[in-house]
Amino acid sequence: MRIVDWAGAAEGGPAVVLLDQRALPQAEVHLLLNTVDGVVDAVRSLAVRGAPSLGITGAFGVALAAHLHGTTTPDARAAVRADAERIATARPTAVPLSLGARRALAALDGGPAAVLAEARAVAAEAARINAAATGRAADLVAERCPDRPLRALTVCNTGPLAAGPGGTALGAILRLHERGALAEVLACETRPLLQGARLTVWELDRAGVPHRLCVDSAGPAAIAQGLVDVVFAGADRIAANGDVANKIGTYMLACAAARSGIPFVVVAPEETVDPGTPTGAEIVVEERGADEVREHGGTLQTLPGTPVYNPAFDVTPHDLVTAIVTETRAWSPAPSPSAPRTAAAPR
Ligand code: MRU
Repeated sequence: MRIVDWAGAAEGGPAVVLLDQRALPQAEVHLLLNTVDGVVDAVRSLAVRGAPSLGITGAFGVALAAHLHGTTTPDARAAVRADAERIATARPTAVPLSLGARRALAALDGGPAAVLAEARAVAAEAARINAAATGRAADLVAERCPDRPLRALTVCNTGPLAAGPGGTALGAILRLHERGALAEVLACETRPLLQGARLTVWELDRAGVPHRLCVDSAGPAAIAQGLVDVVFAGADRIAANGDVANKIGTYMLACAAARSGIPFVVVAPEETVDPGTPTGAEIVVEERGADEVREHGGTLQTLPGTPVYNPAFDVTPHDLVTAIVTETRAWSPAPSPSAPRTAAAPR
């Protein structure tokens, strides 16, 4: 499946090709983006989303800028740098977006072909990283919960659409399914943009994994009723102390998992761990537009102009996280003695 890719001249490029995730699951539409404005708009509007897929898009976006401006004059290189900054900051929370853009930009002196080669390397590495992280996560959970085929709960979408080949948290679930160790997945719908209902269900269905869809508020209730053995989540940014920013709705699942004594497992690339962010309190959580909450399918669901609070992510404190699993390690962030067992303080 072509999710984030490069198109050369033979395909109407130079361009970034994206599977438009806004159209799923009703239609599989590919976008051919041959302007940097188009790439920035695709990122902001969630035509492409999920932290690692944003990183790959960021890298290909900078390759596009290098092809459009060229790299031979100081002015051209300055224009590429300015475009790279716009791409890197199109959404604030996911670490890989800026890392992917900056990594491609670092190859600027080698010319457009070198920038593209670096972007292709970012894309290729995702498959290796995801294979290592999901295998480790599946092993860890199988070891902790050996008694029965697992009933897993997840939120948002963390499969190949979000992360490249293999996926991350959903990838670990798929690995358990391949091993015959999975009974069912409960997928939270993920209001307001329904990444769970539209994308996770689509990926589970294609993989033949037994699943049920639930409203987000049913997730903690299902955990409390003993219907869930393990919660899997991805991450957009992990603070140095192990606090995890992920899709809004993740924190309540971690609270419920801790109260019921089931594992809450985060699967993400190591690059998501940001040493420059000491705790979750320093994580910038993106706030999105009011109409995403006021409307459903383009139809107003509340009073016009109703003021809205629409954070795209929440922060789960590290003491609620059983393990953070990356391609290099499985990390159980130990609670620090001074850390209150509450959400991160408001910024
Ligand atoms: O707003 P989105 O859809 O980009 O949010 C995505 C998530 O929160 C994912 O869980 C996270 O990026 C990890 S993707 C493997």
